[in-house]
Amino acid sequence: MFERIGVIGSGAMGRGIAQLFATAGIAVRLYDSRPEAVEQALAHIRETLERAAARGRMTAEEASRSLACMSAARRLPELADCDLLIEAIVENLEAKQALFRELEAVVAVDAVLATNTSSLSVTRIASACRHPERVAGFHFFNPVPLMKIVEVIRGERTDPQLIERLAALAERTGHFPARTPDSPGFLVNHAGRAYGTEALRILAEGVAAPAQIDRILRDGLGFRMGPFELFDLIGLDVTQTVMESVYQQFYQDPRYTPSHLLAPRLAAGLLGRKSGEGFYRYANGDLQPDP
Ligand code: NAI
Repeated sequence: MFERIGVIGSGAMGRGIAQLFATAGIAVRLYDSRPEAVEQALAHIRETLERAAARGRMTAEEASRSLACMSAARRLPELADCDLLIEAIVENLEAKQALFRELEAVVAVDAVLATNTSSLSVTRIASACRHPERVAGFHFFNPVPLMKIVEVIRGERTDPQLIERLAALAERTGHFPARTPDSPGFLVNHAGRAYGTEALRILAEGVAAPAQIDRILRDGLGFRMGPFELFDLIGLDVTQTVMESVYQQFYQDPRYTPSHLLAPRLAAGLLGRKSGEGFYRYANGDLQPDP
């Protein structure tokens, strides 16, 4: 079992992953190339756990025990004694390869390198490593503590035993490990393509507005969130990168053509919840009514 987990990237996903393992009583060290992101993540997790304790979802002791499991790393070498490193940095192949190359120079030879990539090939990320057999995909969903599933992805050269170790770790946190092959978008982001791209097509054709489409899919078909609510939660920047990545990996199959509606929103800084506005507007994380 893993003793100490290093999480690299302290954005929406990194902080959720850190919270999940700390709550399970595992030591977690958080790193980000922007040190202020680590501070923000730790403050956010503290607030979340204290709120959970105040609402009776956990005891005050459990909250403070979880917080005590977390610490900040200011430099990458401070992760040297971690036996599992999970990266949740920007969705970019070269950046992830460069990070794993750097990590291999720092961590023990038997330490495991996992990627939370949404859509990049695990095998390609691992191809930058001296020991690709210790690299696997560990793909969580947003928000991590609530979405009780994680894809455990086996790259072409991943040690099969590693998949079982990661699956056991996921089960320890109460998450269901979905063992998936390394194919474009894995399972969830492959199956979920139509949900997003078709909704954007409906919007582009002027058939209905985002709130109408969301409501119908939520209340009519029973999805937990409508596609536009989901885009805002995931982040339009991440959504765009995933759409583009899956499209390219399927050799530009027209089924996966990304929508032209996202690029202008990105240019305007409308990234979703994290920027305060995407398809909807937010204040302090709460949805705002239409003016
Ligand atoms: P984010 O933009 O919220 O956070 C990324 C963090 O990584 C930022 O704090 C940034 O400063 C840091 N970072 C960037 N490059 C770095 C580097 N080289 N070294 C250290 N830190 C670095 O992004 P988010 O949404 O947390 O996504 C992270 C990863 O998780 C991406 O690969 C994304 O595709 C994946 N993912 C995202 C989901 C979502 O709903 N947003 C769901 C599942 C996976």
